[in-house]
Amino acid sequence: MAARAGISLLVGIAAAAVVGLACVAWSAAERRVGIGQEAKALTGGDAERAPDLLTRYGCAGCHTIPGVPGADGKVGPALSGLRERVYVGGVLRNTAGNLVAWIVDPHRVSPRSAMPATGITEAEARDIAAYLYQH
Ligand code: HEC
Repeated sequence: MAARAGISLLVGIAAAAVVGLACVAWSAAERRVGIGQEAKALTGGDAERAPDLLTRYGCAGCHTIPGVPGADGKVGPALSGLRERVYVGGVLRNTAGNLVAWIVDPHRVSPRSAMPATGITEAEARDIAAYLYQH
């Protein structure tokens, strides 16, 4: 009798654990979708186009960028957790508009910065900003 009660208690605990894990996974997925929508709304950019642009414009050669294969540059700071930063390039308040302005033309903001203008367009910089706010 006691053994059977013990087994059903164990089964109950296991079932609760499975349900709990499923909830955690679901809320993590929901959070990612939420962050993606927020990044898109803030920047007007399409993050899906960014990995290709980050490689094409040489960003990946100077920066380590999460989720971009081969982006392991160490010339500039790693471009991770950007949505938690207070400043961009150490000089601009971290807003979507300022991040885009920095990516297009860092010297307009910070004349002595080692980061060059790459010739990227403002629309492309918006795609990258959307991506960076998601990662
Ligand atoms: C030749 C190397 C080089 C290239 C190419 C380059 N960067 Fe940078 N980047 C830097 C350096 C160095 C800094 C730090 C500059 C500073 O603080 O003045 C920087 C800073 C930044 C910052 C601010 C990071 C922070 O922590 O505040 C962002 C965002 C950024 N780069 C994005 C890009 C993007 C996007 C591209 C491609 C379009 C790119 N960079 C291309 C060298 C580079």
